[in-house]
Amino acid sequence: MTKNYIMALDEGTTSTRAIIFDTHMQKVAEDQREFNQIFPHAGWVEHDANEIWNAVLATIGNCFLKSGIQPDQITGIGITNQRETTVIWDRQTGLPIYNAIVWQSRQSEAIAQKLQTAGWSAKIHQKTGLLIDPYFSATKIRWILDQVPQAQTRAQKGELLFGTIDSWLLWKLTGGQIHATDYTNASRTMLFNIHTLQWDEEILKLLNIPAIMLPEVQPNSKIYGYTQPYNFYGSKVPISGMAGDQQAALFGQMAWEPGMVKNTYGTGAFVVMNTGSELKLSENNLLTTIAYGLGDQINYALEGSIYVAGSAIQWLRDQMQLLDAAPDSYQAALASHDDDEVYVVPAFTGLGAPYWDPQARGAVFGLTRGTTKNDFIKATLQAIAYQSRDVIDTMQQDTGVAIPTLKVDGGAANNNYLLQFQADIINTPVQRAVNLETTALGAAFLAGLGVGYWQNQQEIQQSAAAGQIFRPRMESTRRDSLYRGWQKAVAATQLFK
Ligand code: G3P
Repeated sequence: MTKNYIMALDEGTTSTRAIIFDTHMQKVAEDQREFNQIFPHAGWVEHDANEIWNAVLATIGNCFLKSGIQPDQITGIGITNQRETTVIWDRQTGLPIYNAIVWQSRQSEAIAQKLQTAGWSAKIHQKTGLLIDPYFSATKIRWILDQVPQAQTRAQKGELLFGTIDSWLLWKLTGGQIHATDYTNASRTMLFNIHTLQWDEEILKLLNIPAIMLPEVQPNSKIYGYTQPYNFYGSKVPISGMAGDQQAALFGQMAWEPGMVKNTYGTGAFVVMNTGSELKLSENNLLTTIAYGLGDQINYALEGSIYVAGSAIQWLRDQMQLLDAAPDSYQAALASHDDDEVYVVPAFTGLGAPYWDPQARGAVFGLTRGTTKNDFIKATLQAIAYQSRDVIDTMQQDTGVAIPTLKVDGGAANNNYLLQFQADIINTPVQRAVNLETTALGAAFLAGLGVGYWQNQQEIQQSAAAGQIFRPRMESTRRDSLYRGWQKAVAATQLFK
């Protein structure tokens, strides 16, 4: 039978999806499954790694059932994933020794604080490009090794393995044969030296993390291993691309030139600028990370991570019950007649870039007797755009590069109100990806390039269509005054702890 499809496994923070693409980059089948969010204590977020694995298997099977495509028609598999989320499992049984600790989780804050107090911030930033924060995997690993009886000893003996979700799924799909990760995911652990492209011995020693439990780090597009037929409906298929979801979105947006920037509005929002082969450390609290590594060629990136974006709309729908469905936020925003003077600061789990304030909590400002539900919804959408501007301004400051166009994707990029307001508030055109599944597409590109399904990036570029552009049309005085209001709201939020 002709083999002519690529499968992307997109394992996000709230759901997992399998998508099959054809050579023309068209989605021909898709299946999605949500999984449980576990909140053991305030500020903690965990997942059951086995539940994720079962959800991945189910979505793969459903893709085949829905489309009639056979498993042996898949030429290569690409994995993309929520980054930083930490799994530690038993090498023999394959059972996790603790829940996966999710990137949003704050339970390892004390460990991060201890490192800061001991004066490690500058060195860790210099080596890993990251700022010390419980967001990254390193302190989560330490936390699990501290909390689970015998874990430290067992890890030292080589009985336990660590992985981010890409590694976990690769290990499961290959039947425990391959324990590897890719440059992008490794660069989010706070254990990886992004200059030498090695796990950093000094940081490992500092955190007492045994190197033996770490996966081998490899480029983003290559054959990592093959599915065990019993895990892939009878077929042995190469897993040939892997990347953390934000880097995969950058790749899927074809932001391959230095200076190109994308913003993905998912659970959080992640603004990433390709800085080419130059490793640039931010002076303003952005992260330096690996964009992708193809063979020996490494591309670096600057990133601003915003913890709450699409999840603020979910909050309006589920907790506040102000919306029946997330897309209704578009009509609600249009129906709002206030002067944009209500500000919602959705700092539910602290503030990410450029503030890095784990203790901040959400706040609302500017309420009047006339404030309506629609005003509240509009202000929440605006908050996504304001937070993105915070990061984009910082990025421009750091690099001296004026961003020509902001490429956007992710679920909330469907919202025309958000995109117009985004263009207005940054005074820069915003271009929506034709295919909003940019993350999955990026993983598919990497996997396809890894097996020669596409010969090179040019071939991919040639068949790509250009998406809709939203041009700024707000007057500068209004833009400046609105943004000043936002800055005051954030400053006031940070005072209240
Ligand atoms: O760094 C966390 C990020 O990778 C999560 O992405 O799309 O699941 O919100 P997402």
